[in-house]
Amino acid sequence: MSEKRLGILTSGGDCPGLNAVIRGAVKAADSHGYEVVGFLKGYEGLVDPVHYTPLTTRNTMGILNQGGTILGSTNKGRFAATVGVKDRVEVDPRLLEGVKDTVRQLSLNGLICVGGDGSLAVAQQFTEAGIPVVGVPKTIDNDLSATVFTFGFDSAVACATDALDRLHTTAASHERVMVLEVMGRHAGWIALYAGLAGGGDVILLPEIPWDFEHVCDKVLDRARRGKKFTLVVVAEGAELPGGSLVTLEEEQSGRQTRLGGLGQIVAHEIEERTKRETRTVVLGHLQRGGPPSTFDRVLATQFGVHAVRLIIEERFGEMVCYHPPAIDSVPIMEAVNRLSQVNVQGSAVRAARALGISFGDGPQSMGPFHVSRNEPVSDELPSDFIQTLA
Ligand code: F6P
Repeated sequence: MSEKRLGILTSGGDCPGLNAVIRGAVKAADSHGYEVVGFLKGYEGLVDPVHYTPLTTRNTMGILNQGGTILGSTNKGRFAATVGVKDRVEVDPRLLEGVKDTVRQLSLNGLICVGGDGSLAVAQQFTEAGIPVVGVPKTIDNDLSATVFTFGFDSAVACATDALDRLHTTAASHERVMVLEVMGRHAGWIALYAGLAGGGDVILLPEIPWDFEHVCDKVLDRARRGKKFTLVVVAEGAELPGGSLVTLEEEQSGRQTRLGGLGQIVAHEIEERTKRETRTVVLGHLQRGGPPSTFDRVLATQFGVHAVRLIIEERFGEMVCYHPPAIDSVPIMEAVNRLSQVNVQGSAVRAARALGISFGDGPQSMGPFHVSRNEPVSDELPSDFIQTLA
């Protein structure tokens, strides 16, 4: 039996690329003479009872392109910390002692924790308790400021873009308004990128206050200019004009309240106010499932390999990050509770405005790229397209 061993777990909401991290870590560990154990269902597998499985290059074969995580995950377990900008929630000290026992009993040199903001906050508390952890950031929302991209995001954007492509054709056929609700709790990256890639006309983000008048203005303006359909992309975390979030349940303590329903409200208001037929699609967990994109496979694999390197070099308390072109690391402490939100003055938002995309906040100064709302644009069929019998 090898004397060198490390553990790995995947925590929080799953996303495409988790298996690629596991595979990358197992291969890198193997080539450095380390055994790997995988803990099941996130942090839950670490204590009472300890649930783990040996991971080898053989039993992780073929998982690179598989969605989900072979280790399972949980985001509502005993270790759950409230995430994002809220107050820190302490992990029960008895659980921390239990984790120390597990690390000791299995003679682990280090533990790789793959997770989002909440899971990394737990990893930080492990570090403070002297447990040798390294972090790997994961979230489809791409809302961690310490890394330019997280794996999972690119796959989620591809899924949302595909949905918009499909909605585009049916919207055009029926001259309807289509509202697509995508994930994005604190940050509107998925909505913004998918909206740009999929030809959205209105994009509602948590970062830009909006109102129904401006959303409906855009729909009517398009109709006046011969564009009889409109694609609206809303991030689930975009607050209503009054400032409230749309949730699927009462506010929860100790875990995130489930968001959802904004798309339906926006669609209802558009139909009421503009009298244009409107439909809603909630993309939901389709964004989190399925195979990772090429980009996510490459990023996740590098994250897995780099996490093993951090353990070998005993750089505990650090988190892998991506600052193109480098795969690097930062203290986990610097990564948690620091959200990366869409830069409302950034190039993507400016490009979107230059294209005439509305953020529901009315006409904004767009600098040299301003496109006049009055510029004649029409996608009406050419007059010779429809032949009439004399
Ligand atoms: O990971 C964040 C996220 O994708 C959010 O955008 C979304 O609100 C949440 O996960 C949903 O998670 P679940 O349904 O697993 O609780």
